[in-house]
Amino acid sequence: MGRICYVNGNFVPEQEAKVSVFDRGFLFGDGVYEVTPVIKGKLVDYPAHIERLGRSLRELKMAWPCTEAELRAMHEELVKKNNLTEGIIYMQVTRGVADRQFNFPKDVKSTLIAFTQVMTLVDNPNARTGIKVITTPDIRWGRRDIKTVMLLASVLGKQEAVDKGVTDAWMVQDGKITEGTSNNAFIVKDGKVITRPLSNDILPGCTRRALFRLAKEHGVEIVERLFTPEEAHAADEAFITSASQFVMPVTEIDGKRIGGGQPGPVSRKMRELFLDEAQKG
Ligand SMILES: Cc1ncc(COP(=O)(O)O)c(C=O)c1O
Repeated sequence: MGRICYVNGNFVPEQEAKVSVFDRGFLFGDGVYEVTPVIKGKLVDYPAHIERLGRSLRELKMAWPCTEAELRAMHEELVKKNNLTEGIIYMQVTRGVADRQFNFPKDVKSTLIAFTQVMTLVDNPNARTGIKVITTPDIRWGRRDIKTVMLLASVLGKQEAVDKGVTDAWMVQDGKITEGTSNNAFIVKDGKVITRPLSNDILPGCTRRALFRLAKEHGVEIVERLFTPEEAHAADEAFITSASQFVMPVTEIDGKRIGGGQPGPVSRKMRELFLDEAQKG
């Protein structure tokens, strides 16, 4: 693959990009992360991701690994060193390296790593057909609003989806959809976009936030309320949002076709608006 990765202040070939077996991210999932999209070599919506990183660190009483200016410079340098035109930057901060004990170690420096992934974001072929999802019980912990690297429930949910021949899973708690395994979930009914309100139950998606702003600017109504899988099955349209998918239409849920099995007008419009803005840089 030949990428250049970032590890604690150094840019190194990916074969040399290593952290200790005593890293708390590895031992406890004691770490947080962000994924920032890159289009035409430019970071998309970067300030929102850094704001959320700050929130995740604060909630977990974890130290910043460096200054915000250094973090931005590192992102830009990584794009340059890898000639990345389109894809993502994954960045992870952990509580650092210390002998294994549950409580926080003292005087330990955070670990900061980052790497790039090349992806087709704008012309993603899935956007033309839409994706299929299943629903599955939400078995995650009680602070899903923090973007931690403890993603086992999402790994299992996504694998269940793949085993069933679809792309993703929408998770269900107390009979209501929470979100997708790595994205926020939306349905459209009678021209209105419906999505779960923010709480500890879901991640406050940066793309979700951008979508709210764009919808407001373009007169699309969003209603924040809980909704059931049955409502989703009967929706006119459905879609997901995330940093790597932007707005991605969902055309089948639990084997039931949504909107005749084609990406609907609201989903397509929201994707277009998002891409227009992202490509302007
Ligand atoms: C559980 C979950 N919800 C929502 C999102 C979407 O967040 P964003 O739009 O910031 O990528 C993600 C992204 O990784 C996620 O993991």
